[in-house]
Amino acid sequence: MAEDSFDVVVVGGGPGGYVCAIRAAQLGLKVACIEKGATLGGTCLNVGCIPSKALLQSSELYAQASHDLAGHGIGVGDVRLDLATMMARKLKVVDDLTKGIAGLFKKNKVTHLAGLGRVVGKHQVTVAGQTVNARAIVIATGSEPMPLKGITIDEKKIVSSTGALAFGAVPKRLVVVGAGIIGLELGSVWRRLGSEVTVVEFLDRIVPAMDGELAKHLHRTLQRQGLAFRLGTKVASAEARKNGVTLTVEPAQGGEPEVINADAVLVAIGRRPLTEGLDLIDAGVVVDNAGLVVIDDHFRTNVDSIYAIGDVVRGPMLAHKAEDEGIAVAEVLAGQAGHVNYDVIPGVIYTHPEAASVGKTEEELKAGGVEYRAGKFSFLANSRGRTYGQTDGFAKILADRTTDRVLGVHVIGPAAGELIAEAAVAMEFGAAAEDIARTCHAHPTFSEAIKEAALAVAGRAIHS
Ligand code: FAD
Ligand code: NAI
Repeated sequence: MAEDSFDVVVVGGGPGGYVCAIRAAQLGLKVACIEKGATLGGTCLNVGCIPSKALLQSSELYAQASHDLAGHGIGVGDVRLDLATMMARKLKVVDDLTKGIAGLFKKNKVTHLAGLGRVVGKHQVTVAGQTVNARAIVIATGSEPMPLKGITIDEKKIVSSTGALAFGAVPKRLVVVGAGIIGLELGSVWRRLGSEVTVVEFLDRIVPAMDGELAKHLHRTLQRQGLAFRLGTKVASAEARKNGVTLTVEPAQGGEPEVINADAVLVAIGRRPLTEGLDLIDAGVVVDNAGLVVIDDHFRTNVDSIYAIGDVVRGPMLAHKAEDEGIAVAEVLAGQAGHVNYDVIPGVIYTHPEAASVGKTEEELKAGGVEYRAGKFSFLANSRGRTYGQTDGFAKILADRTTDRVLGVHVIGPAAGELIAEAAVAMEFGAAAEDIARTCHAHPTFSEAIKEAALAVAGRAIHS
């Protein structure tokens, strides 16, 4: 094969693209991955999952040192914030991980081509003045923040998540527009570090896609932590001034406008697929009204040599969903039966405590007319939770009323993001709630809350 010809050319080096490139190379295909950014890893590693989790961890430690350690009999004197060091640590975590991907490319003999990829034919992509030929092209160009009409993001005072991960000083008053995942995670970071945070949400509830009972509990918990919520409210305008930002908000259903002054505003109202500069339409690839690349069940677009995965296609905008699609499409291209089970994709909100879900919510089961039983167990009665002083939250299992098959699991509480993996494995294996209930769980662990919730489905929890 000529030097500029590949079995697979992947456009985009995020979790979808880089995982696809590595898996395709493992399967013996000759692979190139084109990335326009300075480093590999995409949104997730550079300005998404990783820097946000680094700041969530640092700010949580700061909050614990400020408020919780004394109760354990540990005196630390005055707790001081060194934001520059916190940010430098975050950058080092990002740097190490993005370099790790470059190392994995070398190890797996994936060719990394730096520059903007443009699809110029069924089998051709240009990058940095070079044309590369591909038997198959995989579009994995991800997403970008959704703009809010009439509001200019300057990434200093009016920021997207990218700016909110890099404030040089703690904003005294931070307004977050959108009570979604980014708003609650980054709102939590800055609240813990001392900001007065007000979250303005268009709907009358927070995190709209989440199980309603979990969302209500999270709402109350975050209020107790000092986040203020303005639900059913929309932002009419936001103007950056010398000393801050002036926002005008009004009731979502219409009414008197009100002015709010802030030092910074984070706009987090969702993300939209990114295909700018790719020239997909010239290449004949169909994109829908929302900008999503249209694919079939095997990730193929209407052009038979061009595939697409990750945030740029339908489904939740999550790194692990993009990764699993990357693996599946690589396997399809190698002649195997690549597949993603969209019914079992966990989601985690990394607030304190964490909130995690997999499968159907109660609202979805009710809307679908599915007969189910719910088993619930509070972390108040979980002994590990007691020893940690982390008793806020509960685990809830929803199981089919007739077959007992687990249909959804929702957890808010300590390490919920880790606990949900057990539920995902159980659901992949088609488990009944009784299967979880009869599985021996170590004591004392948070995971016993999952077992007790499974017991509760049949009305036989031991510790409540
Ligand atoms: P991306 O990661 O966006 O990667 C696409 C890549 O393509 C980018 O590097 C881009 O530069 C490149 N590209 C685009 N166009 C071209 C072109 N024409 N030529 C060459 N390269 C191009 N998800 C989770 O699961 N867990 C989390 O905790 C989490 N936290 C998040 C926190 C924040 C603040 C944000 C913003 C997102 C978070 N996400 C999280 C979502 C997650 O980042 C995305 O779902 C994931 O990155 C999608 O992967 P992807 O490969 O589809 O796209
Ligand atoms: P989101 O879709 O989670 O939430 C957006 C919120 O903004 C919704 O509650 C919506 O009702 C509200 N909204 C929309 N328009 C509005 C307006 N004009 N005024 C006020 N509120 C408005 O989007 P978000 O938080 O921007 O995150 C984008 C995506 O990134 C997430 O959906 C998720 O896929 C991914 N992500 C995942 C994380 C994780 O897995 N832990 C962390 C962060 C992001």
